[in-house]
Amino acid sequence: MSELTDKLRKEIEDAVITTKDELEAFRLAYLSRKGQVTQLLGKIGSVAAEERRAFGQQVNEIKQLAQTKFKEAEDQLASGQQASRAATDDITLPPYPITTGRLHPLTQTLDRIKQVFYRLGFSVAEGPELEDDFHNFTALNFPPEHPARDMQDTFFVRKSDRPDEQDLVLRTHTSPVQIRLMKTQKPPLRSIMPGRVYRNESITAKSYCLFHQVEGLYVDRHVSLAELKDTLIMFVQMIYGEEVRYRIRPSYFPFTEPSLEMDVWWGDEKTGKWLEILGAGMVHPNVLRAVNVDPETYSGFAFGMGVERIAMLFYGIDDIRLLYDNDLRFLQQF
Ligand code: PHE
Repeated sequence: MSELTDKLRKEIEDAVITTKDELEAFRLAYLSRKGQVTQLLGKIGSVAAEERRAFGQQVNEIKQLAQTKFKEAEDQLASGQQASRAATDDITLPPYPITTGRLHPLTQTLDRIKQVFYRLGFSVAEGPELEDDFHNFTALNFPPEHPARDMQDTFFVRKSDRPDEQDLVLRTHTSPVQIRLMKTQKPPLRSIMPGRVYRNESITAKSYCLFHQVEGLYVDRHVSLAELKDTLIMFVQMIYGEEVRYRIRPSYFPFTEPSLEMDVWWGDEKTGKWLEILGAGMVHPNVLRAVNVDPETYSGFAFGMGVERIAMLFYGIDDIRLLYDNDLRFLQQF
């Protein structure tokens, strides 16, 4: 008897099942009503009493073995017919072209800017893109109805005449984040505030309806204009290299006094020109008062730079719209 069971066990163990047909053949040969395992089970009753127990145990083990083998083969065939694939695929063939993704040039530029300011001890803060009139204008010393508000062609989301309701705007600059920061934290403060800003300007190679700025704010006792100049010069040299050609000239913003702008030379000696990259100045005492910081004790400097301008200069991109088209032929160059 044990010869019979040993032989059957070996047969089942050696069976190869790689196709659906083979799976069915296996089922018919062993597990169906007329299959060998089933037949053997039927014989248990006719075995001599002394041997019946041992025989029954063996046959049941074989039944388990056949069932497990069947189930495993069935599962494997169901999961994408891997057995048959492995037999036919040529794994030495080169793969189809795989293109790797990369960071957008604006993201790369922002990362570079952040690195510079991390080294100078600035932290990063953020604020909302939908702002109210107070944060975008009033607290920044833009008088009501003053033409300075027109400096920044504003997208109004809600214009309200009600005294208890503020106008809502898409922020025209990142300076409102200065206000939010000073409202929630006491000096000393040293942060940069990157983000998207919006302006209702006609779209050209040099201007777009949305762009990115990085605001900077440093408020403490005895912060001076000399420190601002030093910081800005260090910044352009760290981004563009020591030989960068820059100039700083006086300017006007309602929220800084004095105010200045910084330009970087763009192009070669003969055909190049100055390109403005940032505005800056000493935080206006009225701005400090709006957020309950005493201008007699504290002073500060602020700056706001355009990320697109800085990227365009760095990479030599001559049309801002390229940064928003998502054309792979352009993006793959970075
Ligand atoms: N917010 C100004 C702008 O968008 C830039 C600026 C920021 C100027 C901080 C001075 C100080 O043009």
